[in-house]
Amino acid sequence: MYSEPVPVILVDHPLVHDILLGLRDAGTDPERFRRLAVRISVLLLAEALRDLPTSPATVETPLGPATGRRIAADIVVVPVLRAGLGMLDAVLELCPSARVGHIGLQRDETTAIALQYYEKLPAGLADSYVIVIDPMLATGGSAVAAVARLKEAGARNIRMVCIVAAPEGVSLVERVCPDVRIYTPVVDRGLNSQKYIVPGLGDFGDRLYGTV
Ligand code: PRP
Ligand code: URA
Repeated sequence: MYSEPVPVILVDHPLVHDILLGLRDAGTDPERFRRLAVRISVLLLAEALRDLPTSPATVETPLGPATGRRIAADIVVVPVLRAGLGMLDAVLELCPSARVGHIGLQRDETTAIALQYYEKLPAGLADSYVIVIDPMLATGGSAVAAVARLKEAGARNIRMVCIVAAPEGVSLVERVCPDVRIYTPVVDRGLNSQKYIVPGLGDFGDRLYGTV
């Protein structure tokens, strides 16, 4: 049983666990895997955005005025390519006006060290709610690299949403960027000798895009 203090927020919801089991199942084909990735991301994102600021607003219903609240924050979502793209549609469904940055990182197959090959970020990140989406937090190298680039670009409020985390990755993020909250349904047992999460779900990008 994993128990670390925040900033890890374990998103514990029956629907999340049910979907996660489908993602873990080696028999799930890419078409279903993609659908499940979007569904679980909607639930995780809703949790990660729970404390978004709102401002009061009024609309006219057919029967008169009704007061409510509108989101009053600039949301920037940053998928880490390529697997993070599998979570992007969910965010844009929930937050259609979100701005989108991209960071391309790929782990070297032998060393598992993440190398950056692409970056395009929106300007003016200082007051934005920046959400990094990357389904797998394994060694944490990709996460720490993405956060470092975002901080260099001015981001101050950064949170990470992933689908499966390993204790090694969580520890690294906590050590290097303790101000970054991690939202995940689970922290698995650990990493194998190839730095894959065990039991995990395999290579997310390959399963998402059928490149196995
Ligand atoms: C995967 C995943 C993360 C990274 C996690 O990407 O999407 O970005 O590995 O591992 P880490 O915590 O050890 O850095 P990968 O490098 O396989 O690239 P891909 O998304 O293009 O498949
Ligand atoms: N990247 C993946 O896609 N899966 C893992 O288990 C680790 C890194």
